[in-house]
Amino acid sequence: MNVLIIGSGGREHALAWKLKKSPLLKQLHAIPGSAAISELAVCPAVAQADFEGIRKYAVENKIDLVVIGPEEPLAGGLSDRLTAAGLRVFGPSQKGAMLEASKQFAKEFMRRHQLPTADFQILYDADAAREKIRDNKKYPVVIKADGLAAGKGVRICHDEAQALEAVADFMEKRIFGFSGSKVLMEEFLTGKEISVMALVDGGSYLLLPVSRDHKRLRDNDAGPNTGGMGAIAPVELAAAAMETVKNEVLQRFVDGVKKDRIPFCGVIYAGLMLTPEGPRLLEFNVRFGDPETQALLPLVEEDLLELLQACVNGKLSGQKMETLKETCVTVVLSAKGYPENPEKGKEISGLDAAPADVLVFHAGTRKEAGKFLTGGGRILSVTARAATLEEARKKVYSAIEKITFEGMHYRRDIGL
Ligand SMILES: Nc1ncnc2c1ncn2[C@@H]1O[C@H](COP(=O)(O)OP(=O)(O)O)[C@@H](O)[C@H]1O
Ligand SMILES: [Mg+2]
Repeated sequence: MNVLIIGSGGREHALAWKLKKSPLLKQLHAIPGSAAISELAVCPAVAQADFEGIRKYAVENKIDLVVIGPEEPLAGGLSDRLTAAGLRVFGPSQKGAMLEASKQFAKEFMRRHQLPTADFQILYDADAAREKIRDNKKYPVVIKADGLAAGKGVRICHDEAQALEAVADFMEKRIFGFSGSKVLMEEFLTGKEISVMALVDGGSYLLLPVSRDHKRLRDNDAGPNTGGMGAIAPVELAAAAMETVKNEVLQRFVDGVKKDRIPFCGVIYAGLMLTPEGPRLLEFNVRFGDPETQALLPLVEEDLLELLQACVNGKLSGQKMETLKETCVTVVLSAKGYPENPEKGKEISGLDAAPADVLVFHAGTRKEAGKFLTGGGRILSVTARAATLEEARKKVYSAIEKITFEGMHYRRDIGL
C-alpha cells in the first residue's frame, strides 16, 4: 500500500517509524513531514493547510491510505474532503473532530449518551456567565473556553474573583479569539489523569495501551502547561476502572457516534480522571496524543498498517491488539523559552550516540548542511523500552545525557 501521513511532529515521526515496519507498505509519503521523517518517507513540497494540494498529491500518487496526525486539519475538514475524492482516510470527519474542537459539543455528546463526566453549564455571554458565577457557592470551579486554545483555555478557579477574571479574559478580551465566545463552567474533580486511546472504525473500537502524559513544563508538575513533556505506557488500571472505561466510555462513544450519524474512523482519545467515584471523562481528542503515541507504539506488536487498513474498511472487530509486556518512557527535550517563545536554530549534537534500542523521534528539528538544528518548541522525544519502569527511566535518561543543544530543557521526573 501507498500511505500518506499528514503532519510533521514527533507523533508523525513515530507513526512513520511504525508503519515502515509493515510488510504491507509499498511507499510512505508525508505532508509536510520533516527532515527526520524524510529519511523514512517521501516529503513533497505541499503545505499541511493546502487541502487541495494534498488531495491532488494523494490522487496522483495512488495513495491507498491517508493518516491524519494533528487536530487542525481534522477540524478543518480535510478528512471529508479526501473521502469525497474517493480516498481512504484514517482520521474523523469535521463533525467528529468537533468532539475536540468544541468542548460544548463534546460535553453535550457525553450528556446525551451518558458517558461519565463532570457536571457542567454552558455560558453564552459574559453577563450570564457573571450571574452564574455570583450564584455559585462551590470552589474550586473550572472555567473552560469552548474552542481550541492550545491547552491554555482551562482555568481552575479557586474563588469568585478568579472565575470572573477567566470570563473577562475568554469572553471579553478574547485572548483565544472566537474560541472564547462561549465558556463552560464545570464541577471540579480530583484524581490521577490517564490517556486512553482506541482505534475506531465507526462501529467498533480497539483499545491501545493506556498511557499518562506530563503536561507541565517542570518537575513535580510545576510551571506552565505545555503540549506535553513526557509520557509513560502502559499505565495499569484497576479492573473496575477498566470496565468503566470500556463499557461506559468507549462503547458508549462508539454507539453515540453511530446514533448521531457522525462519521468516525480514526483515534478516539479519552482524557480521563480517576476520581474516588470512578473514572470521569475530562475531554476527547480525536487523534493520536503527542507525546503519548511515542510511548505506546513501541509496545504494539501488531502491524499498525493492517490495523489502520481494517479501520478504513470497517473491519476492526475481530482484530487483536497484542502488546509487549514491557514499559516505555518518553521524555521530551524542549527549547529554551518554550512554551512562550522558543529559541530556534541551535545545533543538536549527540543524536548518533543514543544506543540502538533507544528511539529518538524528532518533533521540531530541521537539517542544514548535514546537521540537525532546533526549529520549534518541543525538539525531540526520546523513548526507551525495558522490562520495568525503573529500567526504562534509567535507559532514557542515560541516552539523553549524550544529547545536547544550547538551552535544552527536559523533565527529570517522567514516570516517577
Ligand atoms: N472538571 C475538572 N476538574 C479538575 N480538573 C480539570 C477539570 N477539567 C479539566 N481539568 C484539568 O485541566 C486540564 C485541561 O483540561 P482539558 O479539558 O483536558 O482541556 P485541554 O486539554 O483542551 O486544555 C486537564 O488535564 C485537567 O488537569
Ligand atoms: Mg487535555
